[in-house]
Amino acid sequence: MKTELLSLLRRAGGYVSGQQLCEQLHVSRTAVWKVMEQLKEEGYQIEAVRNKGYCLKGSPDILSEAEIASRISGRWAGGEVCYFQETDSTNTQAKALAEKGAPHGTIVAADCQLAGKGRRGRVWESPSGRDIYVTLLLRPQIAPVKAPMLTLVMAMAVAEAVREYTGLEAGIKWPNDIVVSGKKVCGILTEMSVEADYISYVVIGTGINVNQPSFPEELAERASSLYLETGRQWKRAPLLALVLEKFEQYYALFSASEDLSGIQEAYNRILVNAGREVRIMEPEGEYTAFARGINEKGELLVQKDGGQEEAVYAGEVSVRGIYGYV
Ligand code: BTN
Repeated sequence: MKTELLSLLRRAGGYVSGQQLCEQLHVSRTAVWKVMEQLKEEGYQIEAVRNKGYCLKGSPDILSEAEIASRISGRWAGGEVCYFQETDSTNTQAKALAEKGAPHGTIVAADCQLAGKGRRGRVWESPSGRDIYVTLLLRPQIAPVKAPMLTLVMAMAVAEAVREYTGLEAGIKWPNDIVVSGKKVCGILTEMSVEADYISYVVIGTGINVNQPSFPEELAERASSLYLETGRQWKRAPLLALVLEKFEQYYALFSASEDLSGIQEAYNRILVNAGREVRIMEPEGEYTAFARGINEKGELLVQKDGGQEEAVYAGEVSVRGIYGYV
C-alpha cells in the first residue's frame, strides 16, 4: 500500500484529502494515517493540514521498493521491484529470481553490495547510501549471439537519462561505459543463461556513481561521479526510474528490428571513441586503429593503419584510448 499511497501523493502534486486516499486505496483512515507515520519515519516530509489533507513535500534519497515503484511510469521495466538494503550482488540475486521464474522486466536494486561484480572478474566497489546498483531481468526471444546488443541498449538508456536528469554531457565509451568529461561514471555487466540454443534469461547489471565524493588515487584519473561532475548531490530513485523509462523506449526500437539499426545513429552521436585512435585488445593480440562508430550489430567499426576496415565484436575485447582511458 505504501507504493500506491506514494504514487497518489506524487500524482496529485499537492494536497489530497484523507477521504480521497481512503476511497482510492480501499482502506480506513487509521490505515492511511499509520502508513503516513511510517513514511515520515523513513524520511518523507508529509504535511497534514486540517480540511486540506496530506501533501508530499519531500522524499529521502533511498532506493526502497516503494520509492522506486512509485516513480516508475513505464509499462514493464520495473514491473516488479526487489530491493535489498544490503546484498552480495544484484546480478547474483536477479539470476536467482530468474531461476525461480521471475518475469521479464523485474528489477533488483540494492543500497549496498558486498560482492559487487565488474567486468573481467573485477570487483565493483559498492558502498551504501550513495550510488545506484540495479539489475534488470529480461527474457528476450533472440539468438544468444545478439545478447551483447542489449548492453548497448542499456548504455544508451543510462546516457540519455543522465543527460536529461543532470544536464551533463554524458557520452558512451564503446561498448558500454558511460563517461563524463573523459571519466567513467557508470559500468554495465550483462550475464545470460542459455538453454539449448535459446536465451533463458539475460540480466543487465548497472552501477552508476551518483554521489560518490572521491575515488582512490589509482582510479581518480579514470573514474568520477555525478556529484563530482556537477558539485551537487542527486537523488537516486528518480534517476533510476528515468533509466528504466529510457530503456523501454530504446528496447522497443531494438525489438522492432532485433538489432541496433534504430539506435545506431543516436549512439554514434554520443560515442566518445568516434574519430579517435583506439587500442583494440583481443585475445589474439593488440592493435591500434581509428574508430568510426558502431554498425547495426553494435560492432565497433575501425580502420587499421593500412586502411583496412574491421568490425570489432563486443565480446572479450577491450578498447582504450591511446593516451588514456578514452
Ligand atoms: C564494469 O566493470 O564496468 C561493470 C560494472 C557493473 C556493476 C553493476 S552494480 C549492479 C550490478 N551488480 C553487480 O554485481 N554488478 C553490476
